Amino acid sequence: MKIAVINGPNLNLLGKREPEIYGRMTLRDLEKMLIEAAEGKGIEIKFFQSNSEGEIVGFIHGAIEWADGIIINPGAYSHYSVAILDALKAFPGKIVEVHISNVFSREDFRQRLVTARAADAVIAGMGFDSYVFALFYLFGALS
Ligand code: DQA
Repeated sequence: MKIAVINGPNLNLLGKREPEIYGRMTLRDLEKMLIEAAEGKGIEIKFFQSNSEGEIVGFIHGAIEWADGIIINPGAYSHYSVAILDALKAFPGKIVEVHISNVFSREDFRQRLVTARAADAVIAGMGFDSYVFALFYLFGALS
C-alpha cells in the first residue's frame, strides 16, 4: 500500500511556528511518527511539503500514477484553493484531509474547508495524531 503524505505552506516551520497552537515537534518528528505507525503493515509512505500551490497540484498529479491513498494538510490553502480541490478530485484513491489544530474553534475564515470537499474523511484538532489516525483509517479502508 502506497500513501502520499502532503503538507502545505508553513508546515515546514512546525516546532517554531506558533508552538502554542501547533506544538514543539518538527515536520521531521511527524515523519518519524508516521514511519513508526506504518511499521509491519506493508505501508510505503512518500512525504512531500511545499509552500507553493502549483507544486502541491503537481505532486498530486504524480500521485495519481502511484499512490493508493493521500493524507493532506493543505495548511492555509485548505480555506481557498480550488486548484488543490480540483487536483484532489482527479485522484482515484482515498483521501484524508488533516489539521493539527481544531480549525472549527479558531477564526471564522478557518471554518470553511474548500479542499475537504474532495476528502473521504477529515480529522482536525488531534495534533500530530491527526495524521496517525488518518494512516490507520487508510490502512483499513484500502486493505
Ligand atoms: C492548519 C490550519 C490552517 O488554518 C492553517 O493555515 C495551517 C495549519 C492545521 O494543521 O491546523 O497552516 O492546517
